[in-house]
Amino acid sequence: MAKKKTTKKKSSKKKSTKKKSTKKKSSKKKSTKKSSKKKTSKSEEQKVEEEEVSIDPLDTLDYNVGDIPGVGSATRKKLVDAGYDTLQALAIIPPGVIMEDCGIGEKTSEKIVKAARDILNLDYKSAEDVWERRKNLARITSGCQQIDELLGGGFETGGITELFGEYRTGKTQICHQLCVNVQKPKSEGGIDGNALYIDTEGTFRPERLIQMAESHGMDPQNVLKRIFTARAYNSQHQIILIKDAHRQIAEHNINLVIVDSLISHFRSEYIGRGTLANRQQLLNQHIHDLQRLSDIYPNLAVIVTNQVQSKPDVFFGDPNRATGGHVLAHAATTRLYVRKGKGEQRVMKVKDSPNLPEGEAIFVISDGGIIDP
Ligand SMILES: Nc1ncnc2c1ncn2[C@@H]1O[C@H](COP(=O)(O)OP(=O)(O)OP(=O)(O)O)[C@@H](O)[C@H]1O
Ligand SMILES: [Mg+2]
Repeated sequence: MAKKKTTKKKSSKKKSTKKKSTKKKSSKKKSTKKSSKKKTSKSEEQKVEEEEVSIDPLDTLDYNVGDIPGVGSATRKKLVDAGYDTLQALAIIPPGVIMEDCGIGEKTSEKIVKAARDILNLDYKSAEDVWERRKNLARITSGCQQIDELLGGGFETGGITELFGEYRTGKTQICHQLCVNVQKPKSEGGIDGNALYIDTEGTFRPERLIQMAESHGMDPQNVLKRIFTARAYNSQHQIILIKDAHRQIAEHNINLVIVDSLISHFRSEYIGRGTLANRQQLLNQHIHDLQRLSDIYPNLAVIVTNQVQSKPDVFFGDPNRATGGHVLAHAATTRLYVRKGKGEQRVMKVKDSPNLPEGEAIFVISDGGIIDP
């Protein structure tokens, strides 16, 4: 993998940011003077070591936004305040969005995005390189062998998986199970990572996580510590939580992001035909934010749940369709339909996937979580 050389400074950035921002006056000459002043004052306080470091794109989650050439302390503060505090976030967000979110000029935004892309080496790659990356993508076991086989080894990272189905079919239960399973070591079907759970319906239940952890022989307290959750109270709040997720992912070693459910707020807030276009546009942007997360963070699985709508004009077959229309249909990498089966059984069906054949798996929701029938 190509590595780029850059210069990283070891310094107490937060302190210097404060000092600088109080002194700051907007003149180019002054700012260059200041930077030389800054160096001397730093060398008095502490020795500034400059060292050549080799940056691997996959190892840059903690890379400092302020290390992008040309990003001064004021710009850096604006970026960080708006949630853009990782290179990955900056590299993949359109400059126009950064302009709007941070109040930064067009040229600066373009420069920042270009610099972040250069550092991360986000250029054309050969299919071989893509294959190399896909081969190594981690998967999260569902706890049910039939489901894992259906999905080619478990829930995949590097894309969005949508679980849709009627109420009480087990979507939320699967999400809880994945939050536990992602923590397992690789040898047991996990990624040894943590989970972020955005709960829009108030159905997040630590007690279920404890039951699942116990039945898998894991320490429940430890399992709970590694799951970070936020209740989204409306669609705007949900959008902000996902925009803020970059920070959480980088800080907390997150390998799984759950949004349960993705569109219930949007559906309840935008009622009537006249509001449909607005709703779809917002939803589209929200899904793009999610897609960016899965594009930039290696080994991150994004799982969203969705309800169904019954189509009254379908006479043969299942009349249920996922809600969200085309916007959602094109966004999820893998769409899985969950329905009730015989007795207590549930059935999962692959509805859409770029690499999996259509097929079904049967599972059961038990006290201890998702299991084979
Ligand atoms: N402790 C438990 N033991 C066994 N089964 C359980 C337990 N807790 C929940 N369930 C099962 O999970 C089902 C609910 O599943 P879940 O909450 O995942 O549905 P959902 O698909 O998310 O529905 P909705 O669309 O309403 O959000 C219940 O019907 C019940 O059968
Ligand atoms: Mg649910």
